[in-house]
Amino acid sequence: RGAQSPNLTTCHLSLSDADRPVYCCPLKPESEETIIDFEFPSPSEPIKIRRPAHLVDEAYIAKYTEAVNRMRRLPPDHPHNFIRQANMHCIYCTGAYNQANSSALLKIHRSWFFFPWHRIFIYFHERILGKLIGDDTFALPFWNWDSQEGMVIPDFYMNSSLNDVDRDLGHLPPVVTDINFDYVESGLSPEAQVSLNLAFMYNQMVSGARKPELFIGCPSRAGEEGACDGPGTIELAPHNALHTWVGSAGQPEREDLGAFYSAARDPIFYAHHANIDRLWTVWEDLHGGREVAGGEFLNDPDWLDSHFYFHDENARLVRVRVRDCLDMSKLRYRFEEVKHPWLNAKP
Ligand code: C2O
Repeated sequence: RGAQSPNLTTCHLSLSDADRPVYCCPLKPESEETIIDFEFPSPSEPIKIRRPAHLVDEAYIAKYTEAVNRMRRLPPDHPHNFIRQANMHCIYCTGAYNQANSSALLKIHRSWFFFPWHRIFIYFHERILGKLIGDDTFALPFWNWDSQEGMVIPDFYMNSSLNDVDRDLGHLPPVVTDINFDYVESGLSPEAQVSLNLAFMYNQMVSGARKPELFIGCPSRAGEEGACDGPGTIELAPHNALHTWVGSAGQPEREDLGAFYSAARDPIFYAHHANIDRLWTVWEDLHGGREVAGGEFLNDPDWLDSHFYFHDENARLVRVRVRDCLDMSKLRYRFEEVKHPWLNAKP
């Protein structure tokens, strides 16, 4: 029992979903000496507003494209380099670190670390992009795949630095997403697919997620690896399902989005996770607010004190605890309000 954290000095070869060796560690090993504790951004900083990807305008797309371009052009050993960013996900997902004081590997999927880890990851990614273009109002878009209008890969992800050639060619726009995709084409008409998606959302957000352990995932504690293997409703699908649906059917592990080690190389990853991040707060609101929704289950110090390391927008190595990321308003971003058509789609 206890809170989890990685031992940074252990970064090593890890295994892909298909058990192939992959290596995602930084070129220069990190030193634990330079770590600082996370601090909230200043309350005078503008609130970044994340908008649905299907509603952003040309000026925004140009800005986002430029920011990703700059990220791609950074030297490969720079912590803000695009591939280094993507490799952060690979490291924490494939088990490239041992846990502190243990030989158990640290992995953040299929457990209660899923929501907080990805929140922190895209929080810094967003601030780094903003910094690269000198815009402290820059916010990631969210892929609003839980609404009719958002159930297709947003068009601008087909262009320049936001494109990724490794995607399923049968699922490019305007094909309607199957948010519960399981490697088999549903064969449904677009209308039927949309209704099925909405009914499925209702189950994952409401009827199937009335207890925090069902929505958040199982408790993974210090020294344990694989002892808890219980993803929350949303992590399983639409989250995993859309990773698979977007990834290329022509690649062995459905790279890029379809495999843990390569997923964050596809820029759409960040919009996908912005939506996941949003749905976390929507779930809290639907179930009585953060404290009530999480109840005793999330009042657990093993969760709250678990921590991870990220480079902030100033390239400093920061220790961030789960408890640091729970209050979005302190992190100075929010989501534009959108309708939740699935609330009326009770199957
Ligand atoms: Cu860490 Cu969407 O996966």
